[in-house]
Amino acid sequence: MTSTTPNLDNLINLAEIEAAAQTALAPMVRDYYAAGAMDEITLRDNREAFDRIAIRYHVLGGTSERDLSTQILGRKHDWPVLIAPTAFARLAHPDGEIGVARAASAAGVTQVLSTLSTTSLEDVARAVPDGARWFQLYVFRDRGLTADLVRRAEAAGYEAIVMTVDTPILGRRERDARNRFSLPEGLNAANLNAAMSRVASDGGDSGLFQFFARMVDPGLTWDDLEWLCSLTTLPVLVKGVVRGDDAERAITHGAAGVIVSNHGGRQLDTAISSIDALADVAEAVDGRGAVLMDGGIRRGTDIVKALASGASAVLIGRPALWGLAVGGEAGVARVLAILRDEFDLAMALCGARNVEDLWPDLLV
Ligand code: FNR
Ligand code: LAC
Repeated sequence: MTSTTPNLDNLINLAEIEAAAQTALAPMVRDYYAAGAMDEITLRDNREAFDRIAIRYHVLGGTSERDLSTQILGRKHDWPVLIAPTAFARLAHPDGEIGVARAASAAGVTQVLSTLSTTSLEDVARAVPDGARWFQLYVFRDRGLTADLVRRAEAAGYEAIVMTVDTPILGRRERDARNRFSLPEGLNAANLNAAMSRVASDGGDSGLFQFFARMVDPGLTWDDLEWLCSLTTLPVLVKGVVRGDDAERAITHGAAGVIVSNHGGRQLDTAISSIDALADVAEAVDGRGAVLMDGGIRRGTDIVKALASGASAVLIGRPALWGLAVGGEAGVARVLAILRDEFDLAMALCGARNVEDLWPDLLV
């Protein structure tokens, strides 16, 4: 949380918002949000891989009017960005997940709420009834609890379930181990009952690492995806896929789509960057399901590159948290406004009138 709130208008790109947030946050929170696994090689490469790609833009495309909208799972989205699920938003600011929901809704953006939100999924839905949202699911060892979360998300109007599959065991974030990461008094995993919702270190390691070891099922298989699909009429997207063959399996086991992601570099270090993994996945899915991606999106040109590589939309994780940290709901709104303006500008300068104009031949 900030003691001296910076003037948001003076922060003109996402890097400046990140820098302001890093100064404002308590070190344990800053480290939790910023961290990647181990040497943080994948964390860095998620960004650097975007910067290695050059755009061979078109000219004279008649781009005075741009249509930024995209179709995902049969629904039109105003522009191709969603909010990625990130745990514990109230660590950044008291506005927390509801602040994110309000800013997202106002910007025409779908919020993917984490299983590990610090506001319950019902409270977020009640606070922002007009917002579009999906629910991210961690499959717990306790399948009754897991199925109950899916039923609650359906009942509260969530439009899709995102099954995260890259986290059988939490990756080793050395910053969190060093800090013995714990949630402060008064914050908990609000979708779970009191006995389960505490995230506290016993003094030996990150409290979140210990929470995952206790709660999350490390043994999931493709049969568990089928089980999940059989539980719900909502579309299920599989998040954390980086290979075409796994994407193919996801579709044949019932998924409506995949999210190409390495969890923001927080799981397997030296894993392939998300943008480098994307084309193979898009080719394997071949229109049979939605393909989204996250990891390292910080500029409008990154969105162009992801869409030209076969994604129909991207998600942002940390940028929303940094926005929340510097200005609560208004900070998230600022992040989304900057990114939308940058994407619109990039489209115009690429000679693209709509997202169908974005093809792999734009990129080298
Ligand atoms: C995450 N991520 C994540 N993913 C998920 O499926 N469930 C979760 O609860 C969380 N929690 C979480 C917390 C924090 C602090 C971060 C930074 C990330 C991963 C997230 O959804 C997404 O994959 C990445 O954050 C995308 O990378 P960028 O946009 O942060 O570079
Ligand atoms: C993380 C978990 C909660 O990345 O997904 O911290």
